[in-house]
Amino acid sequence: MCGIVALTGHPDAVEKVLTGLSRLEYRGYDSAGIAAQDAAGHITVRKAVGKLQALRDTLADTPLDHSNIEHSTIRTTIGHTRWATHGTPTTANAHPHQGRLGGPQVTVVHNGIIENYKHLREQLEAQGATFHSATDTEVIPFILSQQLVTHTPLEAIRHAAHTFHGNYAIAALVEGMPDTVLATRKGAPLCLGLGEGWYAVASDPLALAGLTTRFIFLEDGDCALLTPTAFTLHNGEGQPVTRPVQVLDLDDDLSGKQGFRHFMLKEIHEQPAVVAKLIETYTTPDGTLALPFNLSNVTGINIVACGTASYAGAIGKYLLEEHVGVPVNVDIASEFRYRNPPLAEGGLFIAVSQSGETADTLAALEHAKAHGQTCLVLTNAPNSSMARAAHHVLPLLAGREIAVASTKAFTAMVLAFTLLALELGTDAPAPHLAELRKLPQLLNNQLAALKPIKNLADTVTDAHSMLFLGRGVLAPLAYEGALKMKEISYIHAEGYASGEMKHGPIALVDATLPVVNLATGADGLFEKTLSNLREVEARHGRVILITDTAGAAQLDDATKRGLTLITVPDAPKLLTPILFTLPLQLLAYFTATAKGTDVDQPRNLAKSVTVE
Ligand code: F6R
Repeated sequence: MCGIVALTGHPDAVEKVLTGLSRLEYRGYDSAGIAAQDAAGHITVRKAVGKLQALRDTLADTPLDHSNIEHSTIRTTIGHTRWATHGTPTTANAHPHQGRLGGPQVTVVHNGIIENYKHLREQLEAQGATFHSATDTEVIPFILSQQLVTHTPLEAIRHAAHTFHGNYAIAALVEGMPDTVLATRKGAPLCLGLGEGWYAVASDPLALAGLTTRFIFLEDGDCALLTPTAFTLHNGEGQPVTRPVQVLDLDDDLSGKQGFRHFMLKEIHEQPAVVAKLIETYTTPDGTLALPFNLSNVTGINIVACGTASYAGAIGKYLLEEHVGVPVNVDIASEFRYRNPPLAEGGLFIAVSQSGETADTLAALEHAKAHGQTCLVLTNAPNSSMARAAHHVLPLLAGREIAVASTKAFTAMVLAFTLLALELGTDAPAPHLAELRKLPQLLNNQLAALKPIKNLADTVTDAHSMLFLGRGVLAPLAYEGALKMKEISYIHAEGYASGEMKHGPIALVDATLPVVNLATGADGLFEKTLSNLREVEARHGRVILITDTAGAAQLDDATKRGLTLITVPDAPKLLTPILFTLPLQLLAYFTATAKGTDVDQPRNLAKSVTVE
């Protein structure tokens, strides 16, 4: 989603901001822009629709030093990548936005949504402001300009922020205030990067990788004023505050597809290593668990997440109910946060989030915390807003996931739930952990035999729609398989619990509909799956069966002839969801590559969804 990078005092500010924006590219965006300020405080803006290269081309065509600004004197720059929410992706709607009303001209970049912008815009127009975009953001520079008439810069941005409803992270430049960046946040993340003779602001520290290792994460309501030599920080009440400096050793290298055609394929192949790392970190060689927290007397669990993370949570429900024996609810965060669900005293609330920044999951976590729940977050971003808000954090240790469609983080989430179920359960963990240790090798074996899935993918590229079915723990995996397929191949796909097929989806079945069934031969329910398959076959549907060797052994020759069979290795029950995940990810991946879609940055999607 949108990204902010700002620098003041850096001799190479324009290039460093562009590089910072490129580090956030993988999150998805549709336009970009920068504003540069010269030593006299004049500001020049350049924007372009499309990828950052388009902005670089614009800068080459109309260099900053052809305007009123001397390139060599630019030490202060703010930049933005925009993922359209209000208004289509056009140059006019791209950030930065500028406005002046009574006070100096103000230039801003903004992440999040100003929910009351319509009302504010009407008020500002009545006072003489002229708007040039369809964005919610454009109200910000006018309001800040007004506030600067009567307030100091820090007070002005604090007062301006108080008029906004919604979530925001803002960085601003003010005409006539050279080498000064103003910033504030609420709901959306923003951090300061600390340099020698320069300071930076970014929506994600990753943008500043290679520039600094020292960061300060702003809290809700915080307002910052940065110059090349100092920064001042006030809280939402206008009191000076200090926030801890965190040292983060961020991976500077974004180049590495390491020979893979796409980041997604690379990340799929990283899963054996991710699984091995999680097991090694959170277990001991003598067969006990070593999770970084202690939870006892858990009587009920709420799991809340969005998208793929919510399907990992749904798998977690099966695992926790079976091993811990307490009731577990799974909710989609956007529903949970407004439903006001009853939360029993002493309950455990688990937020699941790769990015740790998803707006709805974060809001749900804060709601649960305010209602006395013990909050645990399973996240791949241990410095994220959710990690800071939760009582306990279980880092997923999957390494940075660049492809928008989540793969290795999903697998890490499922494994984290498996470990948690063993930790909270009463079974002796040692035998289970011995089984789990076989996972990396089993996944490697699966990755060594991709051909049948690639062949299968070539046969579904023309499909307009697909069904994914599964039972038990494989039902939420069917939802995930359908989501992955639609995200990157743009084929419409639905996931259902197998038992639901007769209750409606069967109406869709005809000769053009591939139906992917997930079934293990080891759960005593395989006969029921076979009945489901026959129902599809009888309506000339295309049956694809993903099963283990135990399942395949239960098929007679005639049934085998009527379907496409993909086998996964036989393995203990605890390993089933992860072993069935790989073929689904690969099927989506190979279908998408056969269709020629933008696999790593599929259309309309963003990696980290920081707005509702
Ligand atoms: C799908 C996908 C999304 C995310 C969802 C939540 O491949 O990645 O559905 O799972 O947007 O994101 P996080 O996990 O960052 O909270």
